[in-house]
Amino acid sequence: MNEFLSDVATLRKNARAHIDGGAITDAYGADRERVIGVLNEALATELVCVLRYKRHYYMADGLSSGPVAAEFLQHATEEQGHADVLAARIIQLHGEPDFNPATLVQRSHAEYVPGNDLRDMIREDLVAERVAIASYQEIIRWLDDADPTTRRVLETILAVEEEHAEDLLTLLKTHGP
Ligand SMILES: [Fe+2]
Ligand SMILES: [Fe+2]
Repeated sequence: MNEFLSDVATLRKNARAHIDGGAITDAYGADRERVIGVLNEALATELVCVLRYKRHYYMADGLSSGPVAAEFLQHATEEQGHADVLAARIIQLHGEPDFNPATLVQRSHAEYVPGNDLRDMIREDLVAERVAIASYQEIIRWLDDADPTTRRVLETILAVEEEHAEDLLTLLKTHGP
């Protein structure tokens, strides 16, 4: 095992010197502004996904597609939860979460596709989940060990997006040609 990297006196001195940094200490190893920017893109993606799933939920409900509608609603709720977690992490990094609806869809990685029928909606949601999965994986690899807390937040979200994608694939197999 390696020697512990800092002597305790230096650790204490640095912690006391920049107290207005809050959770951000000298040990923060990432480009904070860039991380906030990337988290805002992820936030936009989650918010667009909430809106798309909400539309799909109400449309599917209108088509009396009970189980599919329920799945869409559950995903909408979970994407909203992801958006909240990302916004909270942006604040913790001393940034500002961007909820501006005027630029939401341009800043999102995933698209807002209304979908014409049930199969269409399921397929588009699966595509959006695959976009989210690929982009979260890329961000996680980019962060590496520079910001372990943000990485853990994203890893937790990624696991849920993978569940979403598998749920949708199952629905796609049972709804369509
Ligand atoms: Fe999500
Ligand atoms: Fe998802």
